[in-house]
Amino acid sequence: MAGIYIETYGCQMNEYDSELVKTILHENHHDLHGAEEDADVILLNTCAVRENAFNKIFSRVGNLKHLRRSHKVKVGILGCMAQNIKNKLLENPNIDFCVGPDNYRELPELIQKSLGKTKNESSTRLSKEETYSDVQPTREDSINAWIAIMRGCDNFCTFCVVPFTRGRERSRSVESIVSEATQAVKEGKKQVTLLGQNVNSYKNGEDDFCTLIEAVSEVKGLQRIRFTSPHPKDFPDHLLHLIAQKENICKQIHLPLQAGNTEVLTRMKRDYSREEFLHLAQKMRKLIPGVSLSTDIIVGFPGERDDQFEDTASLMEEVRFDSAYIFKYSPREGTYALKHYPDDVHEDEKKRRIIKLNEMQRKHTTESLSRMLGLECEVLVEREETHLSKEQCQGRTDQGTTVVIPQNGSLKCGDQVRVIIKDKTAHVLIGELIS
Ligand code: 5AD
Ligand code: SF4
Repeated sequence: MAGIYIETYGCQMNEYDSELVKTILHENHHDLHGAEEDADVILLNTCAVRENAFNKIFSRVGNLKHLRRSHKVKVGILGCMAQNIKNKLLENPNIDFCVGPDNYRELPELIQKSLGKTKNESSTRLSKEETYSDVQPTREDSINAWIAIMRGCDNFCTFCVVPFTRGRERSRSVESIVSEATQAVKEGKKQVTLLGQNVNSYKNGEDDFCTLIEAVSEVKGLQRIRFTSPHPKDFPDHLLHLIAQKENICKQIHLPLQAGNTEVLTRMKRDYSREEFLHLAQKMRKLIPGVSLSTDIIVGFPGERDDQFEDTASLMEEVRFDSAYIFKYSPREGTYALKHYPDDVHEDEKKRRIIKLNEMQRKHTTESLSRMLGLECEVLVEREETHLSKEQCQGRTDQGTTVVIPQNGSLKCGDQVRVIIKDKTAHVLIGELIS
């Protein structure tokens, strides 16, 4: 039995995967409760989606050098980076083994080997079947549960490394997901987030995402259902109607745009035009009153001209997303764009573009928060104190906006309370309890 310490980087799928890894290691009698300094093995569950994710891990591995020397700690790299650049990682003298996202069942064996001093082992075979459907994640959050419903991606957007690090799309059965959601509710969870690299491309035999989310919405006692990350190509009207009608499906949709110019979208291989995206966003706003829309945008994709970038800015003006994550294009190993399109937008120009869009978005986010002032809403309490104060607690609205409310001494995680919105900061609403 070894002491294991896990650190997670990147997306929610990685958070979920770390919960699966904890279960797998716990079943193999490893101890996961100790601090970093007491561990025999440190695992970094990594992301490969942009260059800065890589840099973070290399600098973290460098920081761990002293523990390797003084405490003979072994360092294992899990996740997308392990899958993407395993050879480079194994050349690093401070890394002992690598395990890809489909090989976590082999982790106990690799840990054993590394403790027995076998150096530079790896397990990075992508699988067409692995969904870890039978592994119950070790959940530490008292009210939220992530549930991965599908894994992998078949879209091959030209900028994206995910199809290479997480392999082909495969979905779990509706029964196994409903049973996991039911179990989560029994354990006291109020909110589940359905996860997948292309969550709404879910397909298991005859069952699609509509069948699945409808079945999950019928789980007794489940107050809130969210899902991420969807692709704009898989939003049939029926899904929009379900979101509008089912009370426990949250009115919050993440709708990754990536670019607002059709020519750029075509080179990204996104499968929709500027007009189709606009039409979809407008339809969502019409069919789901009050829906909150967030997005992902990439600036400086190879060959993106200034006028094409301006199309992204004008689309943002038109849709007015409630929030947005904006990234500079970063060439990734294995992708079509890396092989075929030179990264020819200058770094300074990428910077100018990201600053411009972030400023625009700040205004749109402020507008969106301001619309809530004076309104009443339901807040699900998710933290009994905030990182700033013990006198405040924090939760989210149905639309996913964070609300801070005074802690009256009796508010507990999982309470659903009615609140009036009194004020706002840049990203957060300030509310007061309605007695
Ligand atoms: N460069 C910059 N951003 C990227 N993303 C994915 N790949 C890249 C890349 N090579 C962004 C996309 C995606 C989000 C998760 O990360 O916007 O939606
Ligand atoms: Fe990457 Fe595109 Fe798949 Fe999303 S849909 S994971 S951006 S390849």
